Amino acid sequence: MADLSITVNGMRFPNPFVIGSGPPGTNYRTIAKSFSCGWGGVVAKTVALDDTPVVNVAPRYGKWRMKSWEQKKGNANVMGFQNIELISDRGLSDWIPDFKRAKDDFPEGILIASLMESYEKDRWVELVQRCDEAGVDGFELNFSCPHGHPESNMGAAMGQNPPMVEEVVRWCVEATDKPVWAKMTPNVTDITEQARAAVAGGAHGGSAINTILAVIGVNLETFRPMPTVEGHSTPGGYSYYAVKPIALRMVAEMMLDNPQLTVSGIGGVGDADDAIEFLLLGAKTVQVCTGAMLQGHRMVSNLIDGLDAFMDKHGFDSVEDFVGKSLPYFTTHHHLVDMQVAAKAEKAGQKKRDLEWSENISEETDKLTTN
Ligand SMILES: Cc1cc2nc3c(=O)[nH]c(=O)nc-3n(C[C@H](O)[C@H](O)[C@H](O)COP(=O)(O)O)c2cc1C
Repeated sequence: MADLSITVNGMRFPNPFVIGSGPPGTNYRTIAKSFSCGWGGVVAKTVALDDTPVVNVAPRYGKWRMKSWEQKKGNANVMGFQNIELISDRGLSDWIPDFKRAKDDFPEGILIASLMESYEKDRWVELVQRCDEAGVDGFELNFSCPHGHPESNMGAAMGQNPPMVEEVVRWCVEATDKPVWAKMTPNVTDITEQARAAVAGGAHGGSAINTILAVIGVNLETFRPMPTVEGHSTPGGYSYYAVKPIALRMVAEMMLDNPQLTVSGIGGVGDADDAIEFLLLGAKTVQVCTGAMLQGHRMVSNLIDGLDAFMDKHGFDSVEDFVGKSLPYFTTHHHLVDMQVAAKAEKAGQKKRDLEWSENISEETDKLTTN
């Protein structure tokens, strides 16, 4: 078996597969299950200070299925998933014992606390320091939750404001010696602005993407948008297979803009091939949230087997050997056109074996003449 471990910002992940912040890491039980199943790391469900109000609704999920597929039940035909779930409804005091217990029981597993707060330095510093004392390995700052608390500049409202990202990252980096990642919102025109702001603030890395604002569908009998709560709905965050191409594009943009950036790739990973694509575009770890919700924590066995087979096939000794290997193949559309014109010209020059010469001998001579 190939060595799947990778060290990122001083954190040694036994493999690059990490549970993304959300229900699969929402309490000690789910975190323990993740590590027992073999996940290299867990980003826990986002937590805030105890007095931040978090009240979830039900139903809060919606699935977008491939209509043409015969199977209408189960999860095999789910292409997209939407949630209107908020951050953890358990305050920090509830979480501290979970962090401690998870680190005691699974010292090899990398545990990252995901944090979200309002735009107040004291609150961020308290969050970071209390989680730090509880023994977590690193931090992910949630600048990307697309719903809930926008009035307090929380989540995506903060990510959409790069100067604020820079300042909050700086508060957090100064409050701990452990690595800090900034989790980016895709609900912007240019994700590199957020990444640059995070780096300017001292972030060690960036995670991308969080969910994309969406309306999962409308019920044709009741005319109600979904998910429907008391007859009404609100736009939510879109995830799973359907978002993967957008997530890959954003990770590539961030890496091309700053090749030194440490990125944790997220969005639409359902199997090993999906995850390997993120690694080829420069991500050093790959997070999975909806995939684990729909397929169960045990899906990580398929990710590990698939990565091992891929590395074996291509003769890679370590994950680092192929991280970012596909990035040099991006260029501008203009350059693609230039290359194609050049390739055609070269082909035209090469094709003329004696038998292919036309009767227009002077034209053929010109084509083969250097001026
Ligand atoms: C139900 C649900 C809850 C989520 N909660 C959080 C959260 O608390 N904090 C966070 O940073 N991201 C949260 N996310 C976003 C995921 O971590 C991830 O960025 C996104 O869903 C894309 O990845 P995926 O396609 O693997 O799910 C949540 C996603 C889902 C589906």
